[in-house]
Amino acid sequence: MDMDETKVLIVGGSSGMGLALARRCLAEGSGVIIAGRNAARLNAARDELGCPAALATAVADISREAEVAALFARIGRLEHIVSTAADIEGAYRLLPDIELSAAQKVVDSKFYGPLLLAKHGAPKLSANGSLTFVSGIAAYRPAARGSVVAAVNAGLEGLVRALAIELAPIRVNAVSPGWVDTPIWQ
Ligand SMILES: NC(=O)c1ccc[n+]([C@@H]2O[C@H](COP(=O)([O-])OP(=O)(O)OC[C@H]3O[C@@H](n4cnc5c(N)ncnc54)[C@H](OP(=O)(O)O)[C@@H]3O)[C@@H](O)[C@H]2O)c1
Repeated sequence: MDMDETKVLIVGGSSGMGLALARRCLAEGSGVIIAGRNAARLNAARDELGCPAALATAVADISREAEVAALFARIGRLEHIVSTAADIEGAYRLLPDIELSAAQKVVDSKFYGPLLLAKHGAPKLSANGSLTFVSGIAAYRPAARGSVVAAVNAGLEGLVRALAIELAPIRVNAVSPGWVDTPIWQ
């Protein structure tokens, strides 16, 4: 597709809630870019969505600033930016078993990623555009083994409140799901 006609960027669009959102946006007639770190997953998602002309894919790791900057350099104006990205592998552990490297990946994907998307993406949005990130129930109903995810979700919501002030009139929101059956639990 012509990247200049893209309207909605969905980071995490190769799986779970992001993929479901991509399906919905395409059905509503929007141009969509789905982004993620793994090209094969993105291609599989494109196949699953029926390879429509209004869909493009982009490989990018949102925890790496150079990749976020390069992603937006390839994209024209946007109406909406969404990130459902999360890397929680190895993060649901009791305290004695938590590896800092696994905790860091949660922070990278769910905190620094949104921060970088806002920094580099906001200039691409019009005044009625929006940024939407995903926190989660763990911020309010933490369970044993969930301390890292709980803390990052809560931190993301603090970031979102501050960004909403700084970037107004662009809307910045966090959506906080309960438990949803997606590939994240595989
Ligand atoms: N499912 C639940 O029960 C639940 C509950 C509460 C909150 N949430 C939150 O809801 C959001 C969506 O979850 P989901 O269940 O749809 O997850 P999912 O199916 O695992 O999808 C996560 C997506 O994020 C991408 N991703 C991960 N790290 C990335 C990075 N650094 N840069 C770019 N893309 C990255 C993944 O693709 P690659 O791996 O190829 O990069 C994948 O497309 C997450 O923030 C999650 O924490 C989920």
